[in-house]
Amino acid sequence: MNQTLFPTPSGTMGPALPRYEGRAKVTGDARYPSDVRLARTAHAYLHTSRIGRGTIEAFDLSAARAVPGVIEILTNETIGGEIRQMPAIYQGGYLADSAQPLGSADVAHWGQPIAMVVAETYEAAREAANRIGVTYRPHAALAADMDAAEASEQALDPISFGVGDFAAAYEAAPVRVDARYSTPAQHQNPMELFATQCAWEGDRLTVHEPSQNLNNIRFGLAEQLGLDAEKIRVVSPYVGGAFGAKGFLTQRTALVALAARRLGRPVKLVATREQGFTVSGYRAETRHHVQLAADRDGRLTALRHEGWELTSRADSVAMGAVSMTARLYACPNIIGRVNAVGADRSTPGFMRAPGEMSYGFAMETALDELAHALAMDPVELRRVNDTPVEPVGGLPYTSRSLMQCFDAAAGAFGWHERTQAPGSMRDGDWLVGWGCASAFYPAQAGNSAARVRLSADGRVHVSSAGHELGQGMYTMMAQVAAEELGVPVDRVTVSLGDTDLPPAVVAGGSSSTASVAPAIMAACDAIRRRLGIEDAPPASVMPAMEASGMGVIEEFAEARAHGQPPESIQGLYRGMALPTGGAHLPSRVQFALGAQFVEIRVHARTHEIRVPRAVGAFAAGRIINPRTAHSQLVGGMIWGIGSALHEHSEIDTRNAGYVNANLADYLLPVNADVVDVQAILVPEEDRLVNRAGVKGVGEIGVVGVAAAISNALFHATGRRLRDLPIRLEHIM
Ligand code: MOS
Repeated sequence: MNQTLFPTPSGTMGPALPRYEGRAKVTGDARYPSDVRLARTAHAYLHTSRIGRGTIEAFDLSAARAVPGVIEILTNETIGGEIRQMPAIYQGGYLADSAQPLGSADVAHWGQPIAMVVAETYEAAREAANRIGVTYRPHAALAADMDAAEASEQALDPISFGVGDFAAAYEAAPVRVDARYSTPAQHQNPMELFATQCAWEGDRLTVHEPSQNLNNIRFGLAEQLGLDAEKIRVVSPYVGGAFGAKGFLTQRTALVALAARRLGRPVKLVATREQGFTVSGYRAETRHHVQLAADRDGRLTALRHEGWELTSRADSVAMGAVSMTARLYACPNIIGRVNAVGADRSTPGFMRAPGEMSYGFAMETALDELAHALAMDPVELRRVNDTPVEPVGGLPYTSRSLMQCFDAAAGAFGWHERTQAPGSMRDGDWLVGWGCASAFYPAQAGNSAARVRLSADGRVHVSSAGHELGQGMYTMMAQVAAEELGVPVDRVTVSLGDTDLPPAVVAGGSSSTASVAPAIMAACDAIRRRLGIEDAPPASVMPAMEASGMGVIEEFAEARAHGQPPESIQGLYRGMALPTGGAHLPSRVQFALGAQFVEIRVHARTHEIRVPRAVGAFAAGRIINPRTAHSQLVGGMIWGIGSALHEHSEIDTRNAGYVNANLADYLLPVNADVVDVQAILVPEEDRLVNRAGVKGVGEIGVVGVAAAISNALFHATGRRLRDLPIRLEHIM
């Protein structure tokens, strides 16, 4: 892969410092939660359902119990109702789904944990789990996906809005597009598996679990097990990839905690790669109906986007990103609507840019179809419909640099050399196509606190229970404290990933920096007040005294509750599916924006699809560290290539199970698929979005890539492909 390592900082960007924890990671010093070795650990292994829906008639545990080293086997018959059923986060709870762990003999979906073996060794636990006999009574009619006759429209907190008179404007327009799109189920597959270790000391429980949301685990587990949350500590200093799958408490944690309590010794579970497909949430398959109408100059006169998302029977979940796609372009007549379709599957969840990826594919492909119908350059179509005001509520965007992104990316890509007719850029045996699309993501934030300590020797320690997923949290925290207090960054140390520290928001919704950086700034204010230098500009402090400060982000009054008893902290985290703010503020709309450009080559005879280059440009407010931000964006763009051309969790309709639940069969882009990826950081200053001026870059990189690829494929071949993933058999 050819690419610059990171762009030169410009505008308000901070320095491109190397990673705080880089050495620890590359030398193996970084200890991930499953690396922690505790004395006398017993090992757990899940046994998961092999049917899609039905009832367990009987277990035969004799062969499993006969395996040497087996200590205990938990099933619905032996667990004894010790774990309470709790609502999912979507209904105001904490859990990724509302199932009660080993709660009954009912099976809701393939891959559901129905037993857990605990043994002296991992191998014994696995052997015994494989020897568990189960007699099932399968349900007669199974809905494996949205096409199944038994799939059903499911109640959903309505996501439905509009402005103007869509129907009249659509009918009256001279140019129209009416098209349907689909995206498949996809799984995050973080490198680090879903691991949990639990150890009790008296009535205090320590949980080692890789997590994007430590306090969600703490408070959710407290309710599930009827414990005092103050007695639960969750530790996760490093996370080996998460992408939404480690955002919320899953069923496994309470099972491991319960087993450890029963045994009076630590218990460790590492779910297998296959089990990871149903242990946590995933990107649900979606369907879309988009209708666009425009005048002859390309100005949108009517826009309608309706989405359908697969969900489980038990939990109605929808990402509903029409709240982005229907609010991005000037248009007087708009309808946005989202539906949930229930099937016999595990509850879906968040996966990197959960709704924006799929809804963006539909809308940004439809816009390309409109540009083609208008014989208009697709960049110019976006320019004609650019707007400083969000079109549904009439609210201003805090900042909007969409066209600056298009101009920067188009320039770097060489877009002006494109010829418009499909098939017109052939190069020998290769059909060449160039396509583009917008990228977007809401700028969000959530309740967070940080503590900063200044020592007499000029050293600074900054702590917050944030999460290091590889995105650069340690580096960001050190950098912000160093900058605010005017100390060299190598004098700053950082603690994160521990519920004993001041609480931080979920590392999701691209909100970590936007939430924790302002808290660190507020903590530094407190120090400067204590030193009597509150008026001195940042970086002018040469302290020679002890001081510490606690800061919370100001926009969320509830966050001030920190320092009060844990119950009030818990209030901050109850039902926190995503941080507040972003698209839902009453006075303004705050989006990070970007532009994606892709070159596609399709071999005329073999139909092999290649992506020789991709250029993205992104404006996301202040960039604290261009190196880590750039890495996030390039990673996101590579995810976009995977989502468009490779990734598809394939379902066996006979048992609603995933047939490719492993990294051999679940296709991902490899180096040969990712040739030249360039991410440009467009300087943008936004004083309204939050004190740090940060919009977040964790997810926007993936958005729009799939549409840019499908648009480039149309340009190369004249074939419009509206269903992901796009593989060579689809363009034969
Ligand atoms: Mo992200 S899907 O909010 O972890």
